[in-house]
Amino acid sequence: MNVARKSIVVIGSISTDMVACTVRIPATGETVIGTSFSTTPGGKGANQAVAAARLAYPTQMIGMVGDDAYGQPLLDALDSAGVGIEPMEISPGSSGLAHIFLAESGLNSIVIVQGANARVDRAHIDRHAALIRSAGIVLCQLEIPLDTILHAIDLCARAGVPVMLDPAPAAPLPDALFSKLAWFTPNETEAALYFSEGLAPDAAARKLLDRGVKGVVLKRGAEGAYVAVAGGKAEWVPAFQVEVVDTVGAGDCFNGAFAVALLQGQDPWSAAHFASAAAAISVTRRGAQASMPNRLEVDRFLTHRGSARP
Ligand code: RIB
Repeated sequence: MNVARKSIVVIGSISTDMVACTVRIPATGETVIGTSFSTTPGGKGANQAVAAARLAYPTQMIGMVGDDAYGQPLLDALDSAGVGIEPMEISPGSSGLAHIFLAESGLNSIVIVQGANARVDRAHIDRHAALIRSAGIVLCQLEIPLDTILHAIDLCARAGVPVMLDPAPAAPLPDALFSKLAWFTPNETEAALYFSEGLAPDAAARKLLDRGVKGVVLKRGAEGAYVAVAGGKAEWVPAFQVEVVDTVGAGDCFNGAFAVALLQGQDPWSAAHFASAAAAISVTRRGAQASMPNRLEVDRFLTHRGSARP
């Protein structure tokens, strides 16, 4: 029997990444001479959508571009990656921009200017309420207005649709939100906003679970991910050792792939192992969306490198 798969629905940002490559990220007040510059499609929401769609999972995105020169190319990039763009809208004004410093080490720092991402509002969510209610999982981040995200998460909670919230960039969140989340996935920098600095992953995960989140993934880059579920086990899933070229979008790749693997019935630790393989491939390539691997690439990687241990 061919059972229709429930889609992944991403509610989030889409931006053009303006990437300046540099030997190292400048300190405050310092000017450095860069080595190259490129513009590529990005935005945490769009990156997560592309990550899931490249893995051949039905994925739709709800978001907004501007009517400037950047808007249509951003939509085209989503479309050509296989993301459903029917719920995407265009509004007068500028599209989202991300100014990225990419160091030779592969590490980055980012300043985003929201543009059209700031114009995703409650009414936009309501226009796509039926799609959201039918989703297998909804992925959110924090690059569109918090009010809109809270509204969307309320809708999901009422409809029993699981939500994965990537708190990026980190921002204070209302206490009542946590019990509505299936997954909360901060990286190390983001986690620092929610707990006192230096809290060990097991203690940090426990604090989040105590606040009502059902599942926690603490993304720790090259160290791996600490995955904990309420009333269940908590375990490290080690990262794969690879030659890092560009970490932009690696966390997004992880989230998109993690969602795919969960919806395909993997347990959270196997899903994180799969996501970690996808993210490992992504950091060996340049660009956010451009670096997201397809299913065959992840399967081959896992065949060769099944264990994350070196
Ligand atoms: O997570 C990476 C993304 O963050 C970049 O693509 C950039 O657009 C910023 O939003």
